[in-house]
Amino acid sequence: MADNAPIGVFDSGVGGLSVLREIRSRLPQESLLYLADSGYVPYGEKSPEFIRQRCRSIASFLLGQGAKALVLACNTATAAGIAELRELYPQLPLVGMEPAVKPAAQATRSGVVGVLATTGTLKSAKFAALLDRFACDVRVITQPCPGLVECIEAGELDAPATRALLESYVHPLIEQGCDTVILGCTHYPFIKPLLIEMLPATVTLVDTGAAVARHLETVLAARDQLGNGEAATRFWSSGDPGRLAAVLPVLWGECGMVADYPD
Ligand code: DGL
Repeated sequence: MADNAPIGVFDSGVGGLSVLREIRSRLPQESLLYLADSGYVPYGEKSPEFIRQRCRSIASFLLGQGAKALVLACNTATAAGIAELRELYPQLPLVGMEPAVKPAAQATRSGVVGVLATTGTLKSAKFAALLDRFACDVRVITQPCPGLVECIEAGELDAPATRALLESYVHPLIEQGCDTVILGCTHYPFIKPLLIEMLPATVTLVDTGAAVARHLETVLAARDQLGNGEAATRFWSSGDPGRLAAVLPVLWGECGMVADYPD
């Protein structure tokens, strides 16, 4: 039996739209709810407890809107908050994101893998466990990227300041011989063109959006909860709804109505 309730997806801001696009293309018959917590962006430099509080509040809101599943389209929120959400909602399908260390460790030829992510993700116990599990045989260079999410939130995907900041983060990875670079934050796929320009052509970029959409499909199929309806997408922002509406055509590919999330 089909379940045409929507899937709730959230991030600290617009980054999760990179995941939402993958979900839409993999699961075109699912209705989607997207909440950008732009009033509190960036999560990357905030405390795990603060992020957990945001996760609790947003999860409760999206479930109140009828979500049948939740996707934490944010590496930082997953690292800090998914375990607690699993405890709070043991029956709920919950899908999170983590830097793609395993595929990168399998793909590298130089044996050196770079990870671009937020400070919060890189400092988390979840990320340490990921390295222990999958990166024993490779060298992993971690690079926190403070300030980058703010550039992307501002829509400055190709501005001189964004380029300069990104250059400063990418340079150490090139210097140390990384041939595989993990995009460990859902905002970064939006600056992929810049990364491709800056990195040697031999470097492979690894992103997790498509894998998360596939995993979501598997989880819903296993519970007989896939939808077969006419898909709609609704948006909320805890920041300025007008700003999210303005960037949707570029980052989501079409216009959308954005409501205010006042919490
Ligand atoms: N997009 C987020 C992530 O994947 C969070 C970025 C931030 O707010 O610092 O980690």
